[in-house]
Amino acid sequence: MKVLITGKGGQLAWELEKLAPQGIQLLSCSVEELDITNADQVNQTITQFQPDVVINAAAYTAVDKAESDTETAYAVNDLGSEYIATACKKVSAKLIHVSTDFVFDGTKTTPYQTDDPVNPINVYGASKLAGDRKVNTILGEQATIIRTAWVYSVNGNNFVKTMLRLMAEKEQLGIVYDQVGTPTWAKGLAEMIWSLVDKSGKVQDERNKENIEPLSEVPLNLSSSATLLHWTDAGVCSWYDFAVAIQELAIEKGMLDKAIPVRPIPASAYPTPATRPSFSVIDKSTAEQASGVETKHWRKQLSTMMDELAESER
Ligand SMILES: NC(=O)c1ccc[n+]([C@@H]2O[C@H](COP(=O)([O-])OP(=O)(O)OC[C@H]3O[C@@H](n4cnc5c(N)ncnc54)[C@H](OP(=O)(O)O)[C@@H]3O)[C@@H](O)[C@H]2O)c1
Repeated sequence: MKVLITGKGGQLAWELEKLAPQGIQLLSCSVEELDITNADQVNQTITQFQPDVVINAAAYTAVDKAESDTETAYAVNDLGSEYIATACKKVSAKLIHVSTDFVFDGTKTTPYQTDDPVNPINVYGASKLAGDRKVNTILGEQATIIRTAWVYSVNGNNFVKTMLRLMAEKEQLGIVYDQVGTPTWAKGLAEMIWSLVDKSGKVQDERNKENIEPLSEVPLNLSSSATLLHWTDAGVCSWYDFAVAIQELAIEKGMLDKAIPVRPIPASAYPTPATRPSFSVIDKSTAEQASGVETKHWRKQLSTMMDELAESER
């Protein structure tokens, strides 16, 4: 099976590449090798490689910068997704497209289901939603859209690494307590995605053997013909809880010498260019069913990632 990954060097693409199962013919492309805003390059690369599956892990992810750099955010997240979907259609490749919890406005108080109404409250969320809609329109059930949230990895810039740096530099920190969600270790997301790819390959093999009509291997969502899945780690926390856990684990693992006071502050005391949803916990059951992979609690995932981070810094 041939798989093409976009966004090489990003957190998710890095984990996907590391975990690629044996027997997969993989083409992982950096922005220099495949700029998804370049329609000709996208068309040429996908047409030449003829992948069975494309995993679009490329995105404009600078949430605050997107408020002023709107054109670039839309070029990558909206148009880039459209170009990829169009090329996938041409070569009959399946597309696994990654999206965000920021398509929701955060006014719910129970986990978001895949068919809950979307209403992004920042440019990043709106640009991702525009791309998701293009993917859905162009590919329908040939596409799987996975919404995730609060992604971190050993590779790349993220909240975990920022907290570790600030906790070593500062005397105290104030961290937002009134935005609640669930972190996602990119490695866990990558494992789930490879499991989906594996299942789609098995269905493909059966189809070839029996010469039967194409099957949809994962349940279809009522509001969309593409398969919509939600994936984060398990559990719930605020950014404040997340920061406290990072500090506790870092002390336990000898990654920080001493604890500093971490105070819970309201989001209003930490103004940012982009408004963020106050609640963005998503229900993971569709992805668990489709992939056969169970989510693990975010604190357990964080601890394992921090072991990996400490090992990489030795
Ligand atoms: N990070 C999060 O907290 C978060 C939360 C929810 C959803 N997601 C979604 O999860 C997916 C993976 O995110 P991530 O955390 O792995 O993001 P990431 O670390 O920012 O990686 C994104 C990658 O895309 C590349 N890229 C940017 N513009 C591109 C272009 N025009 N053509 C090709 N590649 C381009 C980036 O390259 P440069 O670094 O050189 O720009 C980077 O390597 C994305 O779809 C994102 O929207 C992420």
